[in-house]
Amino acid sequence: MSEVAGRMAIQAGATYLEKEHGGRGLLIGGVPGVAPAHVVIIGAGVVGTNALQMAVGLGARVTVLDKSVDRLRQLDLVFGNRISTVYSTAASIEEAVLDADLVVGGVLVPGAAAPKLVTRSHVSRMKKGAVMVDVAIDQGGCFETSHATTHTNPTYLVNGVVHYCVANMPGAVARTSTFALNNATIGHALVLADKGWKAALRDNEHLRSGLNICQGQVTYEAVAHALGLPYVSADSLLA
Ligand SMILES: NC(=O)c1ccc[n+]([C@@H]2O[C@H](COP(=O)([O-])OP(=O)(O)OC[C@H]3O[C@@H](n4cnc5c(N)ncnc54)[C@H](O)[C@@H]3O)[C@@H](O)[C@H]2O)c1
Repeated sequence: MSEVAGRMAIQAGATYLEKEHGGRGLLIGGVPGVAPAHVVIIGAGVVGTNALQMAVGLGARVTVLDKSVDRLRQLDLVFGNRISTVYSTAASIEEAVLDADLVVGGVLVPGAAAPKLVTRSHVSRMKKGAVMVDVAIDQGGCFETSHATTHTNPTYLVNGVVHYCVANMPGAVARTSTFALNNATIGHALVLADKGWKAALRDNEHLRSGLNICQGQVTYEAVAHALGLPYVSADSLLA
């Protein structure tokens, strides 16, 4: 679903950059003689990388920020000088978003609420008609000014900056999302059906690491911590 949402983030961003949708009236790729839009992507994981691919494909000027230098190194090898990679700090985020036409937020801190990396003060100083797509909204959002929206009414304005914060972006492209989800989950479903849940989880570390609750116990450490409940290792319940 992160692949879907990352790709959609640029599609949605391009639409809301259009004047009649409240945007600056920019074509992402520009035209010969007119500069392209500056797309800033915060978080270079699955969402960020897929957004990056789409933005580069449309001819945008792209800056991507992450806290993982290894991740930035990988992207630098793949995309070369078609993108700028920037180590994520409070200062580098501020500099990038103040110059951005479109900002995509795709950070994740596993098991925790997303950190508020773009502040209300940044938004008040951004270009009017810039667009912000907070893909991380399902984890609370990584912009201070974000609140969750739906496909029925996906955007709102803060200081003239368009915010798109749909918590279930893949729902808009349900056909693509359904096939993608099937492709990713069918193997796990077959293992569960063939072996039964307990043996399947015991034998498969990926299934096991996805287990959140088992026999009334919280088996995912970060979730237990976030909820103030005792953590019980899945291994002890599957033995
Ligand atoms: N709205 C939707 O419909 C929708 C759909 C899919 C995913 N999501 C959400 O999108 C978010 C990203 O998902 P993902 O699959 O790309 O996660 P991921 O784990 O693949 O990537 C997250 C990236 O964020 C980076 N990061 C962490 N802290 C950072 C910081 N301070 N500055 C810059 N980068 C930082 C990590 O290094 C990592 O590269 C998640 O919250 C996920 O739940 C939302």
